[in-house]
This record gives sequence, structure tokens and C-alpha cells, in this order.
Amino acid sequence: MLTACIFAAILASPGEVELDKKIPVIFEKSAAHYRAIDAAATPLMNSGDAAKEKKPHGERLVPHGWDAKNGKPDMRSIYWWTSGHFPGSLWYLYQATGDEFFKERAIVWTESIAPNSKVSDNHDVGFIMYCSFGNARRLLRTDKYDALLLETAASLAKRFNPDLGLIRSWGDVAEKKDFLVIPDNMMNLELLEWAAKNGGDKRFDEIARSHATKTMAHHFRADGGTYHVLNYDQRPGFHGAVQEIRRGQGLSCETAWSRGQSWAIYGYTMMYRETKDPAYLAFAKKVSDFAINHPNMPEDGVPYWDFGAPGEERDSSAASVMASGLLELSTFVGGEKGAKYRAFAVKQLLSLCSDAYFAKPGENGDWLLKHGVGHKPAGGEIDVPLDYGDYYFLEALLRFRRLAGGFAL
Ligand code: GLY
Repeated sequence: MLTACIFAAILASPGEVELDKKIPVIFEKSAAHYRAIDAAATPLMNSGDAAKEKKPHGERLVPHGWDAKNGKPDMRSIYWWTSGHFPGSLWYLYQATGDEFFKERAIVWTESIAPNSKVSDNHDVGFIMYCSFGNARRLLRTDKYDALLLETAASLAKRFNPDLGLIRSWGDVAEKKDFLVIPDNMMNLELLEWAAKNGGDKRFDEIARSHATKTMAHHFRADGGTYHVLNYDQRPGFHGAVQEIRRGQGLSCETAWSRGQSWAIYGYTMMYRETKDPAYLAFAKKVSDFAINHPNMPEDGVPYWDFGAPGEERDSSAASVMASGLLELSTFVGGEKGAKYRAFAVKQLLSLCSDAYFAKPGENGDWLLKHGVGHKPAGGEIDVPLDYGDYYFLEALLRFRRLAGGFAL
């Protein structure tokens, strides 16, 4: 049986008291859910179609979601952008429960995605490797994965274009027509910051700062709402001007895609933690204020999939990423404003812990959160469980428990 807190809790409101009481039960239920996913996914781990993969070990698969039509886990290549989230959630469950089962399974799934350290054809290796191996090194208190993480940082840094001062999110680095950047890329900077401080090239820090600063200048409207895809001009003399805005996974070029906004909240908060540059803190507040004060933000704090799509599907993953980011932001801001960020995150987590979002055993493919939206404009993954939604949900609960004075392993 899990215990709530072994230290006196520092709880700021009745909502926090309620969340603090729920967390042990939610961790216990989450552990059961993930045991079930692991059991269903393990036999499928090596069942990929090697012929379809161009990369070594491409036949290996990792659970990503739920294939409701066929009643089995939706398994994806280890090179899919979310392949680090399932292993990462196992690490968080190990942190939450201390159960050796989760440590053992986390090691297996984490090590299965190691070939990503050599990948430089997309920006997602930061997500992939830091959510998995980053948590492994932290919780195992080992440096045995450091070389792999440093190699990944070097692979990611190959995508940096010094003329533009940006990391290209998608596309070949030699491509001259398009240079596409998305706010999701902010999340990959954490690996570079870690690497710069742990034996890697100091340039990794400069690259991360440059990318964050340029993104801050171009990727947001005056009100703090984000664009999804920007296409920068690489022609000499154009100084990296924006040549095109694309709606990407959002509703339109004029609205803010909710998860993109959450990546920005989390990403700029993280960059402030890593650099202590006050510009990033100010910007984290701005993008957060856009979200939490938005007239289309529902009362329960779980955003519609796009801020311009009230009444349509919610995106529980946008809420979990946001809650985790806001909890960290609250520790840097303090005072009334910091309390507001913390209270908003607590409201979101209470909603996500409720039956409206937290799945019952056996439903939702045993993933924790219902009602995620992957890519609505492409008709993909609408109102489904998402591995990254679960990952940031567990992270946010652990962050809350730490803030509230609860134990951490
Ligand atoms: N990074 C892609 C997404 O958030 O859907």
C-alpha cells in the first residue's frame, strides 16, 4: 500500500488537500494499468516489419497508444517521436512506487530505444532519449548512459543552422527551400542543457539558448499565443525571416494549437531553470498567461485541442504537459502569481484524476488518460490515449508531491 506523504504536507488549499489524498490511489491504479500495457506489449516488441525500416534495429517496437479496432496496443517503431515516453512513464512509476518491477521493465524498454543516439534526421531525439535514459540515469544514480546521451546531443546539434540560429525540426539539413520549426522543439533543448553541463560541448548550451531566443522572437503572436509551424528563409540577405506560417497540427494559422502552447510553457520554464536568463522566465509567464486566462479555456482546465476550437474535443495531453510546466513555473515566480500557476495546475490534475479523464482498468487500452488529440487536421488520433499525455501526468503528480512536501526516491 502506498503512503501519501511521509513528511508534513505543505498544502495551500482544499484542492491541494484533495489531490494529495488522491495521489497514492492514482499511483496504485497507474501501476496496475502499466503492468497490463507491459504484459500486452512485450510479446509485440520485436514484431515490426524490418523491411519497412531504413534504420538499424528498426524492427523493434514500443507501445504508443491503443489500436481499438484490433483490440491491441498501437506499437510504433523505436524511431517514432514518442518512443521515450512509455519507458519514461515506467521510470516515473518506479519513482512513485519503489516497485522493482518497474525498474526492471523500464531498463528493458529504455535500452531497446538506444539506437536513437545516432539519429540526426529529426529534432525529437531530445524527447526520446531524455525522457527515457535521462530518467534512468537520475533514478539509478548511474553514469553508464552518459556517453549515449552525449552522443544524442551531438546528433541533435547537427541540426543547428548557425546562420539562422535555429535547430531545424523536420527535414533534411541540406534542404534549402524549407526550414521548418515547431514550438515542440523547445522540449528537446533540455538534453542539450544537460549535455553542456555533463561533459559535453559547451556549444550545446549556446545552441539551446540561440534556438530558444530566436523562437521567442518569431514563434508567438503579441498576445503570447503560438503558431505551430514556421518556415524560415535561408537565402543570404534574408536573415532568417519567416517566409511562411503553416497551421500544422493546429486549427488555423490564426489560432493557438493547445499542445504547442503547453510545450512553450514547459520549454521556457525549463530554459529558465537551466540558464537563469530572466527573459525566459518573463516569456514563460507570458505564454502561461495566454493559456490560463484564455476565454476558451474550459472550467476544468483541460483545453480544447486548439484554443480556437471551443466545443470540440479536449486534449488531455495539453493539460498534463501544461500542469507539469506550471508547477515548476510556480516555484520560480512566487507570490500571488506563482500561487495562481500552482492552483491552476492543481485544478488540471484534479480533473485528470477524475473519472472523466482517468481510465478504469481494462478500458482505454489501459493507458491512464482518455481524451487526447494527436493530429486532428490530419484526422489522426482524435479522442484517444496518448503515451506522452500519461508521461507528463505522472511527472506532474510527482512534482506536486515534492512541492507538497511528500517523499521522493
Ligand atoms: N510533437 C508532436 C506533437 O506534440 O504532437
